[in-house]
Amino acid sequence: MQEEALQAIQAAPDLESLQAVKTRYVGKSGLVTRELGTLGKLPPEERKARGAEINAVRAAIDAALTEREAALKRAALDARLASEAIDVTLPGLGLPSGGPHLISRILTDLQDIYAGLGYTVVEGNEVEDDQHNFDALNIPWFHPARDLWDTFWLEDGRLLRTHTSPMQVRYMVDHTPPLKIVVPGKVYRYEATDATHESMFHQLEGLVVGERVSMADLKGTIAEMARGLFGPRTQVRFQPSYYPFTEPGADFSVWWENPRGESKWLELGGCGMVHPNVFRAVDDLREAQGQPRVYEGKTGFAFGLGPERIAMLKYGIPDIRYFYANDPKVLAQFRGPL
Ligand code: PHE
Repeated sequence: MQEEALQAIQAAPDLESLQAVKTRYVGKSGLVTRELGTLGKLPPEERKARGAEINAVRAAIDAALTEREAALKRAALDARLASEAIDVTLPGLGLPSGGPHLISRILTDLQDIYAGLGYTVVEGNEVEDDQHNFDALNIPWFHPARDLWDTFWLEDGRLLRTHTSPMQVRYMVDHTPPLKIVVPGKVYRYEATDATHESMFHQLEGLVVGERVSMADLKGTIAEMARGLFGPRTQVRFQPSYYPFTEPGADFSVWWENPRGESKWLELGGCGMVHPNVFRAVDDLREAQGQPRVYEGKTGFAFGLGPERIAMLKYGIPDIRYFYANDPKVLAQFRGPL
């Protein structure tokens, strides 16, 4: 029986089967236990020797059980450690990563160009009042040019800015000339959307104010920006245009050769010399705040352009609505170097 038990113990493949072997031999009604129970029926002179014999068998089985149990536990632990081991030298999983939106990248490029020219970058609020969005920019309420900017009005009488130009006014009220700023940001127009119109898009506003700032300075600045954006041989053209807050006003275009080899003038934005009425309105606002009038007699230029339009021209994107439909198939095409 001992031989048989020891073999069963050695053969037990896991702790569960070992427990079954243990029950079979040394459990309450196990074979060895039962054998001990038979001692009482033996004649007294045989009892002692038989008892010692069975106890020796039991001790051998117990020792084997303890040893096998320890071995199985060690094996189970080794297996668990092996299965949970992490190889820290394996390459990581390639998780898809996001990245800045194409329009953000163009705005950043523009800011870099202007920072290099000594401009300060400032931002304004998207919720504005008609004083800064219109009146101070020489667009009184009765002015037909208000129709140039279809406006989202808020219930409290304020509005979503229709252009970044109100920051011209806010910045001048708070600062004294000379100054050079660019203002990137979102603007809103209450319009039906189509391939070239969205109700939200972006602008970069520029404003330079100082002594004897001239139209030539404006043209040089726009040309510098166009070369930064489209390459060193880019040509720029200015055509007369009308903005109530500029005098004279102009639109500027670049000579653009698309990948199919076709070239034509493409309009990028508006610009002009700051209208004296804007300086006057700024001084009025400053005076109302107890600040000295410092803008009358100064000269300056301003410009505004849309990064969406630049992106559409540069990358042949046919529909402005692609930018904000957030289709990863579109956006992912503009992750790498532009
Ligand atoms: N604010 C004008 C627009 O949204 C653009 C502009 C800015 C024109 C500055 C002239 C000077 O159309």
